[in-house]
Amino acid sequence: KSAITYVDGEAGVLLYRGYPIEELAQHSSYLEVAHLLMFGELPTPQQYTEFQATVHFHNLLHAQVLSFYHGFRRDAHPMAVMVGVVGALSAFYHDVMDIRNQQQRLIAGIRLIAKMPAIAAASYTYSIGRPQRYPNNTLDYASNLLQMLFGLPSSEYTVDPVLARAMDRILILHADHEQNASTSTVRLAASSGANPFACISAGIASLWGPAHGGANEQVLKMLMEIGRPENIPKTIARAKDKNDSFRLMGFGHRIYKNFDPRSRVIQESAKEVLAHFGHANDPLLEVAVELEQIALKDEYFVERKLYPNVDFYSGIVLRAMGLPMNMFTAIFAVARTAGWVSHWLELHQDASHGIDRPRQLYVGHTLRHYPIKK
Ligand code: SDX
Repeated sequence: KSAITYVDGEAGVLLYRGYPIEELAQHSSYLEVAHLLMFGELPTPQQYTEFQATVHFHNLLHAQVLSFYHGFRRDAHPMAVMVGVVGALSAFYHDVMDIRNQQQRLIAGIRLIAKMPAIAAASYTYSIGRPQRYPNNTLDYASNLLQMLFGLPSSEYTVDPVLARAMDRILILHADHEQNASTSTVRLAASSGANPFACISAGIASLWGPAHGGANEQVLKMLMEIGRPENIPKTIARAKDKNDSFRLMGFGHRIYKNFDPRSRVIQESAKEVLAHFGHANDPLLEVAVELEQIALKDEYFVERKLYPNVDFYSGIVLRAMGLPMNMFTAIFAVARTAGWVSHWLELHQDASHGIDRPRQLYVGHTLRHYPIKK
């Protein structure tokens, strides 16, 4: 049971605590949405100011956290780094928090939301040998993430409002999605009473899979491999070929069987960001739009109700922002931390919630005995 997010896959409806994702993406901000997901209500101006101040208070990384990064090769995948670093935060906080204490649970949740941008940004800057940047608390959440990703030591980072808006929208759209694989992973780990940093680290691991959050990176690789619209029929044929494990990345969804409301909003962002950089006719966007048009008319996709999901266009926006493909899922993880934390808090609010234990359908051997040697 959860009261956080409602999805109607047939109708293409996604509500965060009752508010439609389209309205939140249009009018809200990621931090306001994080408050909504965590506490169940949009914050009053006073509550927002306090919430933001608490996030600012906790968004610095302990200087020793950076030493974890130096244990990784520079070319380590940022998701591998984030699984490790976020899990390792347990070592900092395990002994100083009592998860039975609601106030301490809240602080742990806010610590995670506050620190993820610095952790993700450091995963990128470490990989390119650039010094890690500190949060600048004069900026909003999305702009702070951008300045930690792209700011240079030698100059003041100027926030591009179009990029900040696009990043904020990406964070809002990816913030939660009811019982998806990674959120269920977090809830299962949470039910044993595990440390919240370890639970979120498990969520990051699950999100990394190409069938889940890792799809946005795979979509870009697929679009680059297609290269030009004339190669689309070959790709469609492969996606339909039962003997070929290839799937059209960014297409299909376990729940959405008409359209993913998030992909429509992200498609708009993709067009805005590309036009902003003068790449309105970016070949990858052209391929993506053409691929969507062809697939939506193809019997195979129509009868299986396969439509573009949230990952289909998000990679195009993130690439246009200047992020390398291997950082796309890391940004998804930053966004989804608000959802993971909200589900973690919700599970612990129910003191009677014991350990979860999925039922098994046993399909193995019946009883047999060890062959005693004569
Ligand atoms: C996310 O759960 C969530 O909410 C996730 C998420 C979130 O916000 O947390 O929304 C984020 O993970 C979005 C999904 C990103 N993944 C991808 O884009 C990877 C490509 N998509 C597929 O792997 C697949 O569509 C899934 C995993 C997303 C959903 O798979 P399902 O619902 O289990 O579908 P299925 O495997 O049962 O397939 C049904 C049929 C099969 O054909 P038949 O055996 O019936 O002939 O549809 C086919 C599949 O082969 N199919 C596809 C396809 N997806 C399904 N064929 C080609 N290309 C595809 N993408």
